[in-house]
Amino acid sequence: MRSFFTYGICVILLFSCKGKSRYDAFSPGKLWSDNNGVHINAHGGGILFENGRYYWFGEHKTPGSEGNAANVGVHCYSSEDLYNWKDEGVVLTVDPVGSGSDIEKGCIIERPKVIKNQKTGKYVMWFHLERKNNNYSDALSGVAVGNEITGPYQYLKSVRPNSGFYPLNVSEIHKQKTSSVDNIKFNGWSLPADVDALSILVRDLSKGQMARDMNLFVDEDQKAYHIYSSEENSTLHIAELTDDYLSHTGRYIRCFPGRFMEAPAMFKRKGKYYLMMSGCTGWRPNQARSAVAGSIMGEWVELGDPCLNDTTGTTFHSQSTCIFPVQGTEDAFIYMGDRWNPEDAIDGRYVWLPVKFEDDRFFIEWKDSWKKDLFDSL
Ligand code: DGJ
Repeated sequence: MRSFFTYGICVILLFSCKGKSRYDAFSPGKLWSDNNGVHINAHGGGILFENGRYYWFGEHKTPGSEGNAANVGVHCYSSEDLYNWKDEGVVLTVDPVGSGSDIEKGCIIERPKVIKNQKTGKYVMWFHLERKNNNYSDALSGVAVGNEITGPYQYLKSVRPNSGFYPLNVSEIHKQKTSSVDNIKFNGWSLPADVDALSILVRDLSKGQMARDMNLFVDEDQKAYHIYSSEENSTLHIAELTDDYLSHTGRYIRCFPGRFMEAPAMFKRKGKYYLMMSGCTGWRPNQARSAVAGSIMGEWVELGDPCLNDTTGTTFHSQSTCIFPVQGTEDAFIYMGDRWNPEDAIDGRYVWLPVKFEDDRFFIEWKDSWKKDLFDSL
């Protein structure tokens, strides 16, 4: 009788512990389990905070190198403390093989980000989309919408942004092709010596601008912006979205021409806008870059590599995907990066590090393990 009673207590304890907090620190680069004990599957992700919870959206990867493609969709997790994450499931699901849809299983869906539109009450997800078998040549932006933060999200359309519009920061003289680029095959990480990136912009004027690595940013006035690598990756664009966040207004700027910035992560602090970015080396990590601006539409000024003591010049073996504020703590921002594993995509790791500030610059330093109370001393 007594042993039956003890067994019962153990079972009750086991069930009541399931889902309870297990982590009390960040361990960058290590496996990170969700509430079911499964490594979090939300790569190239971003964070949205609502009603006391953080929501982490990212690419659901599958095993092997085929797992880099979108075989499942976009996954969401939620957390109150940022250490422990509850699986909220796949919130945007790819369409079945043979459906012929833009988001057919096997397409590429990268860097999904979700923002809330306060006017419509909808949750809007944008992502980099390459239709199946098109091998990164589409450079499209997909958009999906949800009524609830945890979905389901419904795919609406994909676009090449700002078709027919010149950027705000090009002058009349630039509106002519400086060289013909119609027959050039670009490699995605450098331009031929005689090619001016502007020629690519002009080439794509009627079709719409290329958009690969991307992010979203909502400003204090609730205007939203889409930030994406354009012009064969050579130049970053910052583009205003319409009031419903579902389209582009045609107001955009080109930044860092010819610098091949990828992985943009934008945040705002004390009235200044910051960007962290990477260079273009595929899945291999490279040295980070950063920039600051007094206004989101520029001028943007490069600040250099924000990583301190990063002796390998690899952003601590990671690539930026988001920098977000910790709620309730002044001046506390977390860098969120991906440590990709292209041979076994599902095993990609996450590198989260505290951001610190000195004057108008921000910096990131490696920590094997750290807690949020570190912000008290930064
Ligand atoms: C680097 C980008 O940042 C990733 O999102 C992905 O597109 C890889 N390149 C593909 O090589």
